[in-house]
Amino acid sequence: MHEVDPTSQSNYLQIATKHITFDWTVDFDNKVIAGTATHELIAKNDEVSEVIFDTSYLHIEGVKVDGDAVQDFRLGPKHEVMGSALRVPLPRTLSAGSSILVEITYRTTANGIALQFLEKEQTQGKTFPFLFSQCQPIHARDLAPVQDTPSVKLTYSASVRSVLPVLLSAKRISPPSDGPAHDGKIIGKDEVVYTYDQPTPIPSYLLAIAAGNLQYQSFQVPDGKQWKSGVWSEPELMDKSFWEFSRDTTRFLAAAENLAGPYRFGVYDLLVLPPSFPYGGMENPCLTFVTPTLLAGDRSLTDVVIHELTHSWFGNGVTHAHASHFWLNEGWTTYVERVLLQIIHSPAHRGLSSVIGYKALLDALALFEDKPKYQKLVIDFNYGEDPDSAYSRVPYDKGANFLLHIERTLGGLAVFLPYVKDYIATYMGHSISTETWKNHLYAYFQKNGSEGQIEALNSIDWDAWLHQSGLRLPVEMEYDLTLVNPANALADRWYESRYTTDISKLDFKSSDLDSLDANQRAVFLERLESYNESLPAGHLFHFDKLYSLSTTLSAEIRFRFYTLVLKSPAAMYFVQGAANWVIGVDDTGVIKGRMKFCRPVFRAMFKVNLDLTISTFKQARTQFHPIAQSLIAQDLGLDLTGLRGSG
Ligand code: BES
Ligand code: ZN
Repeated sequence: MHEVDPTSQSNYLQIATKHITFDWTVDFDNKVIAGTATHELIAKNDEVSEVIFDTSYLHIEGVKVDGDAVQDFRLGPKHEVMGSALRVPLPRTLSAGSSILVEITYRTTANGIALQFLEKEQTQGKTFPFLFSQCQPIHARDLAPVQDTPSVKLTYSASVRSVLPVLLSAKRISPPSDGPAHDGKIIGKDEVVYTYDQPTPIPSYLLAIAAGNLQYQSFQVPDGKQWKSGVWSEPELMDKSFWEFSRDTTRFLAAAENLAGPYRFGVYDLLVLPPSFPYGGMENPCLTFVTPTLLAGDRSLTDVVIHELTHSWFGNGVTHAHASHFWLNEGWTTYVERVLLQIIHSPAHRGLSSVIGYKALLDALALFEDKPKYQKLVIDFNYGEDPDSAYSRVPYDKGANFLLHIERTLGGLAVFLPYVKDYIATYMGHSISTETWKNHLYAYFQKNGSEGQIEALNSIDWDAWLHQSGLRLPVEMEYDLTLVNPANALADRWYESRYTTDISKLDFKSSDLDSLDANQRAVFLERLESYNESLPAGHLFHFDKLYSLSTTLSAEIRFRFYTLVLKSPAAMYFVQGAANWVIGVDDTGVIKGRMKFCRPVFRAMFKVNLDLTISTFKQARTQFHPIAQSLIAQDLGLDLTGLRGSG
């Protein structure tokens, strides 16, 4: 296993950024951000004579060290994944502990993938353009020259000039969030300078920016809390967004504080992005980004908010040292997310979420049949290997199950939760490896536990969980099935009816789904998908007619419906509908840019109608986020560079 981050070319072990001051202008006409990044760096060793930054597709205009221009900085050759190292020689050698200021004047370019500049047609309001970033895992280097490794934590401050309101993953200094939008100036025309400060050290992948016609509405915060919370969205989505999140967000954050300790970032806002946002949510500090597909109108998808706010401790507080240890972020967050579901709702809700995660895990493991390395919890990345290609549910659900297994082995939540608090308190603000985590676990129970608990820990097959590949978990897990059973029972009834040829004899009603919540409906569809034999086409038409699944506005349900029917004898009847849905040629009118939805649907379509799939993708490709474009192209075996060339 690499000790050093295998995805960064920076020399962060010799010298590391402590603070960055950004001075940016957002140029919507040219689709670039231009300005300066001024790093305050601290030498870790003696005899440091250069600083190496990661950059990708940045145009570097000039470099100053302690205020003096440096001529002989060098931008290295472009590595396909890691980008170009920017080497800045220092006019004096530094000794350990001394600091230096490096100011880089630069601009982003259109080829970077961290930034997506949207045309006004791609927004809800269709009146103003939009910009948002996605820096995790290694795209911060497309936004600014940085030491792009989660092992370096930095504070930052920024002033950003823009004709549209600007949000950053930091605390707003001016103009005030709850004042008039765009400081009362003309939106889309007048330049306003937005200033921000992030006083809590964060890894570079949590740098984030969004700009567009964005408004704010604050949530009510429970008594005694010092933090603020609210939601940002385009005005057209404000009422829906506020309704969806205002009841739950602050009480979820308060519940997480009870479990993990005080919330450190002062502000917890949500930002509802345009449809091309490629993830469900992204835990940018002070400002979680979410997909608009969470606006289900029934608050059924707020689990994503629980997940993202849990990252405030697991990931944003205690951070994985580098890509190999990514499961420490997502596995821990998913584990705690489900504990919170148990605390906020019930043990049955924890079980339901675990069952959904387990199915997603088995699918992910199967997809990596030819890439067993990515079935492992701790992945031994080669130098320069692309973490986006390894992204899957494995770190989430193998990780969460591993922690659940440890919890149970040690004696349950009552024993485990005090340990969780200690883990967070011990490593808050640090970036750690799996080994550090494991050593602390042992040390904690050596100090606070019994001999029996150490024996219990010794009984765990660490190597199997952490370092083995395979299509299943090392231990079969049991979950609370109270909420799962009714969903499975309905699915089983459908399955048992598969030889009934006379559809009119089928005993199903539109109201069958009424008693199932959104997550149970997901389980119902997944159960049907899991049988070895598909339902006959006639059954599936009837099924769709009864339950209106090919027209439901819930993306979580609709994508599962399509993945089910596209594996069935009815596939060719549904493939066009699936294609239209992903690219927004349907009643929703918007692409399904969240990769959780578009990637499996494109993959499933591909097996049914290759030509249709490719022409659909080509037709709508540029509407998808650059990261989604590249991964869908990989999934379909297409060469993106070729597609770009041909327009
Ligand atoms: N941090 C992740 C998203 C991410 C991971 C982006 C790696 C880029 C690289 C975020 O917290 C996340 O896990 N999002 C999930 C939400 C879900 C698990 C509730 C998603 O987008 O599906
Ligand atoms: Zn996450």
